[in-house]
Amino acid sequence: MLPEMTEINLQPFDVEKVRSDFPVLAQHVYGKPLVYLDNAATSQKPQVVIDALADYYTTYNANIHRGVHFLSQKASQAFDDVRVKVKEFIVASSEREIVFVRGTTEAINLIASSWGRVNLAAGDIVLVTTMEHHSNIVPWQMICAERGAEVVPIPMDDCGVLDMQAFGTLLTDRVKFVSVVHTSNSLGTINPVKQIIEQAHARNIPVLVDAAQTVAHQAVDVQELDCDFLVFSGHKMLAPTGVGVLYGKEKHLEAMPPYQGGGEMISSVSFSGTTYNEIPFKFEAGTPNIADVISLGVAIDYLNAMDRKAAAAWELTLMKLTSEKLSALEHVRLIGTAKEKSAVVSFIVDGVNAMDLGMFLDTLGIAVRTGHHCTEPVMHRLGIPGTVRASFMFYNTAAEVDRLVEGVKKGIQLLRA
Ligand code: ALA
Repeated sequence: MLPEMTEINLQPFDVEKVRSDFPVLAQHVYGKPLVYLDNAATSQKPQVVIDALADYYTTYNANIHRGVHFLSQKASQAFDDVRVKVKEFIVASSEREIVFVRGTTEAINLIASSWGRVNLAAGDIVLVTTMEHHSNIVPWQMICAERGAEVVPIPMDDCGVLDMQAFGTLLTDRVKFVSVVHTSNSLGTINPVKQIIEQAHARNIPVLVDAAQTVAHQAVDVQELDCDFLVFSGHKMLAPTGVGVLYGKEKHLEAMPPYQGGGEMISSVSFSGTTYNEIPFKFEAGTPNIADVISLGVAIDYLNAMDRKAAAAWELTLMKLTSEKLSALEHVRLIGTAKEKSAVVSFIVDGVNAMDLGMFLDTLGIAVRTGHHCTEPVMHRLGIPGTVRASFMFYNTAAEVDRLVEGVKKGIQLLRA
């Protein structure tokens, strides 16, 4: 089954203009123009983000919130401004709800460890989905093992659509937390998180939304969703690696114990006892990732300056084009064909190992990811070892889709021979 096709319009977005902002895309690999289709793993960075990093280290590198001197104050201001930008970007009600972390993985580990330590007890259940990234399974397994609780997955069907009837049935009194991925990294499925949140809240169960694969592709409003926590990484949304965001409702962050101890997260320290800083600083021990946070702010500015609806429509056009062309090839099967889908096309080729095909595509200058994509339970559910995954960003082109499809065609001829 194909994702629902609407008319494919190849002209709505000035992709060449946007591409010129991303220097890495202009290169050749193995003598061929690079086709970068591994955006779900990490996005490329516009020149303004790269410049922001260099500018910080070249002109005002200093530690923040600690110095009375000019450079420290300039760096502190730039860092603090980004918390406001992030707040506005996800429509949080206060900067106090924005915690800077290293990425989605650290954010989920923080919540599982800190929230779980005080709220989970023997016999409790944490509900996740079958299509979670390992980063939204393993931290819960770790804390559940410690507390005698259990992680239970909400099932999905063969197309990669969540079974919402099963979710309703699983939502018993034993469930103490629901942690769900908004957009699946391996299938592209966009889950009905608002409905999940409403149903969980009807039973007073808090919900975490993993928006790592969402924030670069669509606007997110945490107040409209009414999620309790929302987490994402900077590097998948044009910013550098090593920086991410944990949004949490104030009432939860206030009640949770700190995750790490150290400088900045304290109010006062003595050997007779230590008191903690107010939120969000209570969760930001040690010198933060100053340069990358500042660059995350520039990435947000870049996204805000775009016509995001046109960019999203363009990405979906590329996804539909790819799905249509690949599924027309003999031996190719698309994996993940939900109606609500992001610009991710996962596929397998009968008789061809996914990694062999990925390596062949690489020789043509085409970058895709192969394997289980850190979602082994998805592969177990579908009875496959892994997929080839092409994941798009608004700077990809229709010509790149053709290069991919031609490459897959050649790969099939060569590797099935
Ligand atoms: N989570 C990233 C991916 O899907 C690394 O490739």
